[in-house]
Amino acid sequence: MTKVLVIGSGGREHALVWKLAQTQCKAYCAPGNGGISQLAHCIPISADNISELLAFVKKENVDLTIVGPELPLSLGIVDEFQEAGYKIFGPTKNAAQLETSKAFARKFCSKYNLPAPNFEIFNDSKRAISYLETKEFPVVIKVSGLAQGKGVFIVQSLNEAHSIVKKILENRIFGEEGNTIVIEDFIEGKEISLLTLCDGEKIIPCIPARDHKPLYDGNKGPNTGGMGTYAPVPELDEKWTEKIENELLTPLLEALKKENIEYHGVLYIGLMIKEDKPYILEFNCRWGDPEAEVLLPLLKNDLVEICINVIEGHLSILEWKKLYALTVIMASGGYPGKYETGKIIKGNLADNDNTLIFHCGTKRIDHSFYTSGGRVLAITGIGATLAEARKYAYQRVSEINFENMYYRNDIGVL
Ligand code: GLY
Repeated sequence: MTKVLVIGSGGREHALVWKLAQTQCKAYCAPGNGGISQLAHCIPISADNISELLAFVKKENVDLTIVGPELPLSLGIVDEFQEAGYKIFGPTKNAAQLETSKAFARKFCSKYNLPAPNFEIFNDSKRAISYLETKEFPVVIKVSGLAQGKGVFIVQSLNEAHSIVKKILENRIFGEEGNTIVIEDFIEGKEISLLTLCDGEKIIPCIPARDHKPLYDGNKGPNTGGMGTYAPVPELDEKWTEKIENELLTPLLEALKKENIEYHGVLYIGLMIKEDKPYILEFNCRWGDPEAEVLLPLLKNDLVEICINVIEGHLSILEWKKLYALTVIMASGGYPGKYETGKIIKGNLADNDNTLIFHCGTKRIDHSFYTSGGRVLAITGIGATLAEARKYAYQRVSEINFENMYYRNDIGVL
């Protein structure tokens, strides 16, 4: 039986392990979480401990490793596993720069004329402020390195910009990841998460998804890793798919080739659509979270086959169920700032015909689950329409509770 190791511990990794459970394979997850432990053998190795992960794969003769989060990719896990002769799904350290350095990604878009906002790059706060003094607001200030979804600020005034630049470039609240910032023009439009699969030669899009990054209803408040998602996006029809293919994916593939980036894995393109034109906001080099929790349940193909095809360069068509999926994130009060853990989760957490419950941050003790992260559960409804998927998801949300829980009420309100 094929042995597969998933690396990571969130809702995305639970969705990956859930999808693997539809296949004949033996699944491991490092380190996993309470929910994942119901479907896979959880191994207590952290996602950034590459040498121990590799030793485990060698010892157990694991056939395929799937990397969930960006951190091990940024540390070169794919390069090390490949050198040792093991199959691993994800881009190399060099290719992952598209996510790990926003400055690199912006220069790449500009060099190849890919549609993106105007930007400037700074590592000196005085120069950044002088530039901001010439700008109209809002503007977007981004930490160039990795910031767990918390490094993007939509800034409304010069005063606010001063304070953010100071915190990042002088007080180093993001450490070295914030040595450099990117300041971009703000583009008002509708956001799309377009996840694609690349096999080094081809780039094949998934159905489009929509994330809800701000903490509060009405897309207000600080950015989070994502408070809810749905897919597909009803307003995007076949004409849109064709347009995206011509205006975005074909030029992107050419740019990757010219830059000698042989990309294998998920390339997630965060897009803003304004007046029918797509602008690249960011790249991520992995499945999105919570995008994975809506896309994987709708994907018909076998996940192991897809991963092997992506690694070996044989990717062909992706097939999707003609349904909608919608995820609501139940979070610990205080997230994305400080929050408490160890709260007992009450309610029925079993999947049923219309809902799947992915664990993002839980611990299992005996037969009970306790909170152990900022995002705790991803409640996914599946229905024939978006409204139906939404109804199923929120129905289950109303039946679950833990102390100080928080969720948005407007996921999927168009
Ligand atoms: N949901 C946004 C992300 O995965 O980066």
